[in-house]
Amino acid sequence: MCMLAAARGTGSRLVKSSRIEVRSLQAYRMDADGRQQLLRLTSSATLSTRAGATASTAAPRRPSITPTTIPISYNSSASARLSQLNNHIPTAALRYSTSSSTSVSSNSNNKMSAQAEHPTVLIPGPIEFDDAVLQAMSTPSESHVGMPFVNVFGDSLAQLRQLFITTSPDSQPLILSGSGTLGWDVVASNIIEPGDEVLVLHTGYFGDSFSDCLATYGAIPTQLGAPIGSRPSPEEIENALKGKKYKAVTITHTDTSTGVLSDPKEVAEVVRRASPGTLVVVDGVCSVGCEEIRFDEWGLDVVLTASQKAVGVPAGLSIMMLSGRAIEAYKSRKVPPGSYFASLKNWLPIMQNYEAKKPSYFATPSPQLVRALNTSLTQILSVPLSQRFEEHKAASKKIKDAVTSFGLKQLASEERFQANGMTAVWLPEGITPADILPHTAKEGVVFAGGLHKQCATKYIRIGSMGVSVTKPELGHIDKAIDALKTGLVAAGYQLP
Ligand SMILES: Cc1ncc(COP(=O)(O)O)c(C=O)c1O
Repeated sequence: MCMLAAARGTGSRLVKSSRIEVRSLQAYRMDADGRQQLLRLTSSATLSTRAGATASTAAPRRPSITPTTIPISYNSSASARLSQLNNHIPTAALRYSTSSSTSVSSNSNNKMSAQAEHPTVLIPGPIEFDDAVLQAMSTPSESHVGMPFVNVFGDSLAQLRQLFITTSPDSQPLILSGSGTLGWDVVASNIIEPGDEVLVLHTGYFGDSFSDCLATYGAIPTQLGAPIGSRPSPEEIENALKGKKYKAVTITHTDTSTGVLSDPKEVAEVVRRASPGTLVVVDGVCSVGCEEIRFDEWGLDVVLTASQKAVGVPAGLSIMMLSGRAIEAYKSRKVPPGSYFASLKNWLPIMQNYEAKKPSYFATPSPQLVRALNTSLTQILSVPLSQRFEEHKAASKKIKDAVTSFGLKQLASEERFQANGMTAVWLPEGITPADILPHTAKEGVVFAGGLHKQCATKYIRIGSMGVSVTKPELGHIDKAIDALKTGLVAAGYQLP
């Protein structure tokens, strides 16, 4: 039996006093195996309502649906559930109605969304979430070893192979409950052994933290750094690799503290040339889903990420791809893994079973988060990845161009070092994040302060990932630029 899970308007949904135009709808249904299917309803419908009635209270004329016709009713309980979710947002950030009748038309910050009104979160993760992803988390409880969930988990692992662009039967995706940091622990306690040398390419705060994690498990990290806003050159990396035998090189693809983009393809080429036995480990927490990554083609061994950034799912999932070489390195360890929850001994068979659609248990996964991941990955993979990356480039360029036009500079000193999922902006002399962020918040936009310990009070960070980019109709990028401009002026800066 098909069950309609959620229906919502996207694209052009104009709420006027007495007419609602719905030009495009997306709906999700659950199939017999418990998988959510994305249905795109392409018909155009014009709905008449009483003057002043809102979208959620209006009964829409039923549009025709492809591929199957299913009954649609606007589900006002979805907005009630979203209101409950909002209770977890700090009171200071509340600027929205908590009424269960929150409707599309009352959401002044985000007119295209069914979510309760809330400040637009444009930090470099967590990002704004798609309605359907949040609705996927509102599924009733289910057994984590029942076939409906096992099917969704298995499909999500297969989708990750597409996202990371790997077809090698030797590579293995993992979805674990945890955050991005857990990926470091998996690497440090399974693939690296105590006493192993690791070369950490340092482009900001997250290189320091990954080093700390490696050292915690007994590895010997050596950091190869660069001035703030830059990254180690291929020559420097090659020289370092010639000087010592490293078990692995780690790269922070986008260091979220500086917005500096590294080039894993180039680094992997250097490693394969200078030290073929060395593993290439990419921290893609702020890059997977918004920057190009070609796992097989570039010869990467580990790419780890988290759900809350460009993958577009609330925090709580640690996501990884391991190469056959990385798994071999784990299998040939001299001592058992130094962790229990993060142990590949425990997780590899579970992931293999899930992908083969066989129920399996080591530790309880989150069905709701995995369903949200499945929904988000279905959306992400519904357009070519190259298009997604171009969209992120274009949105980020728009912000970067605005920053330049305001007379400001980015931390990332050259264009090729600039990430496409975020922008780190030096503030004018004498202005701190505390001077500007309250003003941008008043404009309904949440930006992040600085994070790099040497200069945290001198810059702010703007995220541009996920729906804020792929759904320009939300207006998030323009809103970010306007808020930045208003905030700068309010903080006493004179625009050029
Ligand atoms: C590049 C990078 N690596 C690792 C992490 C740690 O991830 P999490 O906070 O999800 O544990 C972050 C978090 O922002 C990050 O940006």
